[in-house]
Amino acid sequence: MTQDELKALVGQAALQYVVPGEIVGVGTGSTVNKFIDALAAMKDKIPGAVSSSNASTERLRALGIQVFDANEVGELSVYIDGADEIDRRGYMVKGGGAALTREKIVAAQSKRFVCIADESKLVDTLGKFPLPVEVIPMATKRITALFAAKGGTAKLRMKDNAPLVTDNGQHILDVTGLAIGDPLAFESEVNQWPGVVTVGVFAHQKAAVCLLGTAAGVKTLE
Ligand code: 5RP
Repeated sequence: MTQDELKALVGQAALQYVVPGEIVGVGTGSTVNKFIDALAAMKDKIPGAVSSSNASTERLRALGIQVFDANEVGELSVYIDGADEIDRRGYMVKGGGAALTREKIVAAQSKRFVCIADESKLVDTLGKFPLPVEVIPMATKRITALFAAKGGTAKLRMKDNAPLVTDNGQHILDVTGLAIGDPLAFESEVNQWPGVVTVGVFAHQKAAVCLLGTAAGVKTLE
């Protein structure tokens, strides 16, 4: 099976976690796009979704799924999103699609995080994938130096020859050279550096369930 087929497989499998009659939290990325496409088949069974990015909002609306503002609704029963890396404990690196801040907000608003990913995303230790960090632009230099002190190399994410601007109007640093052995402590530490909006380690908002697309089918890690 191709990686795209594995993404479609887990996107479809995630439907079983959507609670009829309830608003669902929706992440961002190519795997989530497969989930959104599958969700269209049950759009009459749910009031709608809370979305984690402008891109997902657009896709949901195009399929006739209502999108609610996070402030209009209470706690969500489930949040479905992909990951750039996930370990067996459910700790993740996210933000490859630059949507990490809103993803973490919707994840925090949800009782249960269901991660959907193809098997290439499963790792023993987080850190091989360049760690996305959303930052306030004036703090970029200082945050780069703080990562250097940890052995990491931070690079400003670019798009069309200019710094990429997130949905929140901020920039992204991608940090290589890290091995994140204690994701909870790492997330807590980096979160309190002035100018960090969101660090792409999702340990405090870890996945409760991971639907992993493998050549043998969908494996459920809990
Ligand atoms: C976006 C994300 C995505 O969940 C992550 O990048 C995985 O994306 P894909 O499903 O395209 O591999 O965190 O900010």
